[in-house]
Amino acid sequence: MKFHLSDFTKKSLNPGSDTDQQEDLGGQQPFALVKYFSFTSLTVILLASLVLTWSFSQNTRKTILERSEIYSRMFAESLNRQVFYLFILPTFVRYGRIALSDPIQFEQLDLIITDITRGMNIKSVTIFDSRENIISYATEAALVGKRNAGGIEYQKALQGESSTVFTSSGSVLSLLLPGSAPVSSQLQTYVPFRRDRGAMPGEIMGVVAVTQDLSADMKALFSLQFKIILFSLTVMAILFAVLSAIVIRADRIMEARAQERRELEKQLHESKRLAALGKMIASVSHEIKNPLGIVRSTAEIIAKRISKVAPGNEHLAAIIVQETTRLDGIVREFLDFARPKDLTLSPGSLNSLAERMAVFMEAEFQKKNIRPLLELDAAMPDIQMDGEQMYQVLLNIVFNAVHAMSEHGGTLTVRTNPLPGGGAVMEIADTGCGMSAEKLTQIFIPFYTDKNRGTGLGLAITKNIVEKHGGTISVESREGEGSTFSVRLGGGAAA
Ligand SMILES: Nc1ncnc2c1ncn2[C@@H]1O[C@H](COP(=O)(O)OP(=O)(O)OP(=O)(O)O)[C@@H](O)[C@H]1O
Ligand SMILES: [Mg+2]
Repeated sequence: MKFHLSDFTKKSLNPGSDTDQQEDLGGQQPFALVKYFSFTSLTVILLASLVLTWSFSQNTRKTILERSEIYSRMFAESLNRQVFYLFILPTFVRYGRIALSDPIQFEQLDLIITDITRGMNIKSVTIFDSRENIISYATEAALVGKRNAGGIEYQKALQGESSTVFTSSGSVLSLLLPGSAPVSSQLQTYVPFRRDRGAMPGEIMGVVAVTQDLSADMKALFSLQFKIILFSLTVMAILFAVLSAIVIRADRIMEARAQERRELEKQLHESKRLAALGKMIASVSHEIKNPLGIVRSTAEIIAKRISKVAPGNEHLAAIIVQETTRLDGIVREFLDFARPKDLTLSPGSLNSLAERMAVFMEAEFQKKNIRPLLELDAAMPDIQMDGEQMYQVLLNIVFNAVHAMSEHGGTLTVRTNPLPGGGAVMEIADTGCGMSAEKLTQIFIPFYTDKNRGTGLGLAITKNIVEKHGGTISVESREGEGSTFSVRLGGGAAA
């Protein structure tokens, strides 16, 4: 059988690993879109509520102004009529002419206007002369006699057209910022002052300007505006917080799932890789095994005959036998890894495995100055296991421990304990060189070894056997202090 190492390219040992990233993206993208739409719709809702607030307050403001204007006009017309009948006509009859420069006439008019405005929502009344733009009468006495205060509205009123001027200062910010301009709003309506002719418009005798103070209305409007904005912002903030919390949680869950999937994929790739490796090793080992057996038996025959042919060279044949035996051991280990044997389960005790090991290793322990300590729980239950394979597990771990303590000797403790639910745990602790955290992550990987003559398969095979039993193997280690391997079988093994 021909076998080429190049057949086992990196790709065939790591099939599918380059698809990881794409699959990740596939899982994350829809959620990223949902996130994007959620936050965008929040922003849109916020903007929409701000626009709605603005248009609502604009409408309310418009309604207030329209109503106030109608009110002012009706008031001005009523004032026009009352002033005409109560002041103009009687004064004309009495004095022959109207002269507001006359304090008596002025006072009479003032009394009448004060009477009309009492209880009405009117701040001030101003009457302009029709011949020139001068204030003939004003409820604010300081304005009387002032020229050109009427502006274009005065001119329009002289043409018979009523008009309104709205002056306002301050905004919703006036309620928030202490130093900003206060809210002040006034509506000034200019209407022609006519000689009363009932329903028919009469001669224009002057112009009446009626001023309403709308500051309170505007303040109420701004306050409402402020409350709506505050409410929208609060609702938005709550929605945003809830959404963020959901997004963060979902992100975490997705990350955990992605991690889980990556783990599973890694395991799958690893088993594919191992299967490929196993195939390769099985082929190579199989090809080596038979010629090796022939070399070994030939060397044994030569060893017997060499003393006659070339005395003094017996050790050469012995070396060939020794080395081929070692090679045979390695090939067998390779085959064990590549073609794991099926389990033959029967009830057995971990304690007896430990005792068997202690007897088998006695000489080796003595040679290496290692003190074996068996702390075996007498109440250990029998568990379903393949005794021979579990013995191999124990030996692999013990060989490593012996190797780790080969320099100065030490103590090897084998401890057994029952687990709740009928299982058992066996701990093998050494006081050897220990391992770094980084090394701990590598030791179960096939072919990982730091020994000159090691294959690095001991722990990989060990793990395979334990896992085939449905058990777990774990290790704790401190550099320079030692290591403890724990094998759990049955019961709460997975715990
Ligand atoms: N008890 C231990 N103390 C310190 N290092 C250990 C211990 N057990 C294992 N190791 C480390 O783990 C590595 C891998 O062990 P593993 O048994 O898989 O292979 P190996 O012993 O090197 O070779 P072999 O296949 O012959 O057993 C070892 O080379 C060693 O560095
Ligand atoms: Mg080993």
